[in-house]
Amino acid sequence: MSIPRHIAIVMDGNGRWAKRRLLPRAAGHRQGMESLRRCIRACLARGVQVLTVFAFSSENWRRPADEVNQLMELLAKALAREVPELAEAGVRIHFVGDRPSLAEHVRQGLVQAEADTAHNGKLTLNVCFNYGGRWDIAQAAAQLAERGQSITEAALAGALALAHVPDPDLLIRTGGEQRLSNFLLWQCAYSELFFSERLWPDFDEAALDEAIAAYGARERRFGRTTEQVQAQPPAASVAV
Ligand code: IPE
Ligand code: IPE
Ligand code: MG
Repeated sequence: MSIPRHIAIVMDGNGRWAKRRLLPRAAGHRQGMESLRRCIRACLARGVQVLTVFAFSSENWRRPADEVNQLMELLAKALAREVPELAEAGVRIHFVGDRPSLAEHVRQGLVQAEADTAHNGKLTLNVCFNYGGRWDIAQAAAQLAERGQSITEAALAGALALAHVPDPDLLIRTGGEQRLSNFLLWQCAYSELFFSERLWPDFDEAALDEAIAAYGARERRFGRTTEQVQAQPPAASVAV
């Protein structure tokens, strides 16, 4: 089976999961965190090298203040609770997003989690928090402008917040919507897209395997013809 080296996930559907159970939306977000734990374990077990998850978008500030606060506190608490176990399991955490607008205690938690896992290399976990693809492209361009560098694809790619990992091979969105919602606009130029009807809290190992199997059945041509690909397959994923 061909395992994607880098999987990116738009973890959507927490609110609807809660609503169906007549629970507050925060309960859906808490269950979503459990689903993320399970997904990280599954990626470790399958040899995925990079997992990038969308946890809070630049646009999510538009939600009611209560929900925004709950999401911030959920992150802060999860950092304190989960990081030791993730560090032990070989996970390296990176936070990707615009940090200055986050509360001081949240920012400190991010820095600490990154420091505590910096020695790891089994799985790189990028948590996109207060992230938007347009923000990322703009901040990369601003960096180049500041350095007086000319804008080339390579220079811009090198200044993006995810420059430390290869582009995603597979992008999964749960919750049934078929849109990017400002996630990884640059990096998903050639990612295989997989849309799942499952709500994020219900996205289990079997659902992940289904997405990976669908990915394995795709022919990635990167602009070439089938005949060219068959003669020389592109080395964008790791075969196991
Ligand atoms: C995704 O679930 C989590 C975040 C955006 C933070 P939602 O909260 O968007 O869940 P739905 O789409 O309302 O079901
Ligand atoms: C995308 O989900 C952002 C995250 C999963 C963090 P949304 O639920 O915010 O997306 P839209 O608003 O429905 O496009
Ligand atoms: Mg949503």
